[in-house]
Amino acid sequence: MEISTSVLNVKKDNYVHTFYNLETAKTDYFHIDVMDGKFVENNTAELMREYAVALSHITTLGLDVHLMVENVEEFIDEYIDLEPRIITFHIEAVKDKERILNIIDDLKSNNIRVGLAINPASNLEEIKEYLPLIHMVLVMTVVPGKGGQALIPETLEKIKELKKYITENNIDIDIEADGGIKDINVKDVVDAGANIIVAGSYIVNAENPKEAIEKLKNI
Ligand code: DX5
Ligand code: ZN
Repeated sequence: MEISTSVLNVKKDNYVHTFYNLETAKTDYFHIDVMDGKFVENNTAELMREYAVALSHITTLGLDVHLMVENVEEFIDEYIDLEPRIITFHIEAVKDKERILNIIDDLKSNNIRVGLAINPASNLEEIKEYLPLIHMVLVMTVVPGKGGQALIPETLEKIKELKKYITENNIDIDIEADGGIKDINVKDVVDAGANIIVAGSYIVNAENPKEAIEKLKNI
């Protein structure tokens, strides 16, 4: 299981120092929560861009970019130059199949892995046809828009259902769970089938981020 630390709630003052600490704390990736103020109420676009640019200069760890935006193509164009490991967009933001296929091709042609995110209220049926074409499903375990929320237990059933489906259909794809994950519930999330865990407040607000990450990994 891998840990992708969300930088959404990293304090602006001294953030480079925080990023160094998170790297030494052995996070596997940095999760960049880009919000446009339209797909979700919050607008973090500028701050997340600043953090991602800084990270691209100070670490070789992969950037796990989570676009909670309506204009997916516009934000992909903004992030391509940072050569992120993966860019994930929301199925709820792009209904049109043609558009989805073009976005997938665009990312792949830029050597960027492709993730599709689904909100708690969305159904797996909406993304099944794309699974053979992408690298990761990001299952939201909270309603997107801010950090520090409580995990929605019903979303674990969705992770179980997704894990069953990709196993039965021999689809080699990562399952990332995102939102409200801490030491007390990470085992349930991994047992449900997630192999990449996003954690923000649990790690960033911890006295000792290294210990926090170790607790998540050593379940
Ligand atoms: C919510 C974001 C999550 C969130 C995770 O919209 O996509 O990545 O920042 O933060 P915690 O772990 O505090 O829920
Ligand atoms: Zn996220």
